[in-house]
Amino acid sequence: MSSLLCSWATTSSPLLAIPSSSSSSSSYSSSLVLYPKPKARKAARPFCSARRNDEENQNSNQENKLDRRNMLIGLGGLYSAANLGSNTLESSAAPIPAPDLSTCRPNLGPPVPYSCCPPDTPIVDFTLPTNPPMRTRPAAHLASADYINRYNRAVQLMRNLPATDPRNFLQQSYVHCAYCNGAYFYPALQGLNRGEIQVHGNWLFFPFHRWYLYFHERILGSLIGDPTFALPYWNWDSPYAMDAPAMYSNNRTYPALYNDRRNQLIYRRPVNLGTGTDSNQTQAQIANSNCAVMNNEMIRTATTLESFMGTPYRRGNAVPNGPGTSERGSHNAVHRWCGDPRLPAEEDMGNFYSAGRDPIFYGHHSNVDRMWTLWRQRRAANQRDFTDTDYLNSQFLFYDENSRLVRVRVGDCLDNTRLGYQFQTEGVFVTWTDCRPFTRVRGSRAARISDFPKLETLEFPLKLDKVVKVRVPRPRKSRTPKEKEEEVELLLIEDIEVDVGEFAQFNIFVDEEEDSFDDLTKAEFLGTFSHVRHKHDTPMKIKAQERLELNTLLDDLDVEGDEEILISLVPLAGISPLVVSRSALLLPPHKNACSDDQVLAYELYDAYYQKVHENNYY
Ligand code: C2O
Repeated sequence: MSSLLCSWATTSSPLLAIPSSSSSSSSYSSSLVLYPKPKARKAARPFCSARRNDEENQNSNQENKLDRRNMLIGLGGLYSAANLGSNTLESSAAPIPAPDLSTCRPNLGPPVPYSCCPPDTPIVDFTLPTNPPMRTRPAAHLASADYINRYNRAVQLMRNLPATDPRNFLQQSYVHCAYCNGAYFYPALQGLNRGEIQVHGNWLFFPFHRWYLYFHERILGSLIGDPTFALPYWNWDSPYAMDAPAMYSNNRTYPALYNDRRNQLIYRRPVNLGTGTDSNQTQAQIANSNCAVMNNEMIRTATTLESFMGTPYRRGNAVPNGPGTSERGSHNAVHRWCGDPRLPAEEDMGNFYSAGRDPIFYGHHSNVDRMWTLWRQRRAANQRDFTDTDYLNSQFLFYDENSRLVRVRVGDCLDNTRLGYQFQTEGVFVTWTDCRPFTRVRGSRAARISDFPKLETLEFPLKLDKVVKVRVPRPRKSRTPKEKEEEVELLLIEDIEVDVGEFAQFNIFVDEEEDSFDDLTKAEFLGTFSHVRHKHDTPMKIKAQERLELNTLLDDLDVEGDEEILISLVPLAGISPLVVSRSALLLPPHKNACSDDQVLAYELYDAYYQKVHENNYY
């Protein structure tokens, strides 16, 4: 372990990154590439093949100590190794405490004033159940009529509770609202200031939503006297479940699960996990695109904890906004897709203040929660979670089925089975594990890349109102597989300025020569940045950051030997422009170890994919 820590101080020359101005204008050609049959593809390679059980935990712990200011310093010049050694600023005694409900504040501005402050009652500490009966969350598309009836009845009972009962459906939605719209503050403690609580865009994202659903589920179960009741999950990651599950669409049969404030297309068109909007793509094209997007955010660019989970967030620090791959990808896309475009603030799902008012939120987040579980399952046991106590000891408050205000910690929710629930696996297809893009054959790229501006020539701030292309020098090239296992090359984009009240998104491509940016199945697609509307009534700009892993993509494109890469920042059509400032760094060393089990599992998935394909499920 300590050797890992040492290597922090030996590597890193940073590089600058994102560029500006020259740009070829975007050509939105509609060419989409379908995945070939598996036989035609290069055999799937495990995305990592180390046999050691390295402990990424320890260095992610270290990584957490990386002061954001150091990154900014790195923008203009070298990323000094000395900075990496200083852990002093972020001492590990700063978990985010539970909110002080007495300081909860409403949001009164136009156009929609709202208050989502739940009742303030005495707090009890949560204790993990001992041997809880296992509840199995069903895939929503496969749920039986009997199950849906029970679920509908439970939600109806929840809606019928007195408006002031914290278990009431609207009160439940306030809990989510309060944690993400500036309503909650944690108290000043031990000399550290009070601060705003935000559960999106940082490492609290998965734990908060897991706890939120846990209590929601328990309340529903108690209302129908069924302690085995479990929420459904809408597995939008599957090609067979891309349209909204029927249980949410029937106002007459299942009125409690219905909500009029939704995009009316969601029942008959597949969700596009790359954009959250509709297009003229066919069902098969969207299925292929989604499969690649899922692979990218779950596997290809998510080999380290921080890439997947989001950025650290500690008491006393400004609220960070660095969502992980899953949150800014499929999670945000489904929110946007389900929100009602007829409403100015895209309620309910399209805006975090109202999202919890839509029953489909819970089916969506049950699947987001499942993504966390699936991601953890692919990793060695000692690499599944941050071990940082600031993470493990962060707290939230929720109401339980007895209307008690319960204080929970992040560290108690990491393994869903310990909370007494699991996800249905029978009959549920996970296809994206093998949707890694084509490996490209190296072409005559070198000549053309020089046509584009270099990073140093860009002027910041950079307005993303069109495609921006820039050449970015790499910190090192021709790294060996072993070196690549040990270090992840990252593109870091800092200071992305977003208006909290507006949806925003851009995609990032590497070495894309054809300017065809609507095909996300190609190896050149690196990832996305997106932002879902928050406090829609307060015009406010916030800064976001994003980190994108390059290791595998560079292999896919066969450009590991290149000195520079061409980055394209591609704003999505119809969205107001973002402003971005820079940078890319090589951050050492994020261990990418896989256990033998994982490698094996990958091969199994490959066989599985064959089977799925032969049966023409696509
Ligand atoms: Cu808290 Cu999907 O949002």
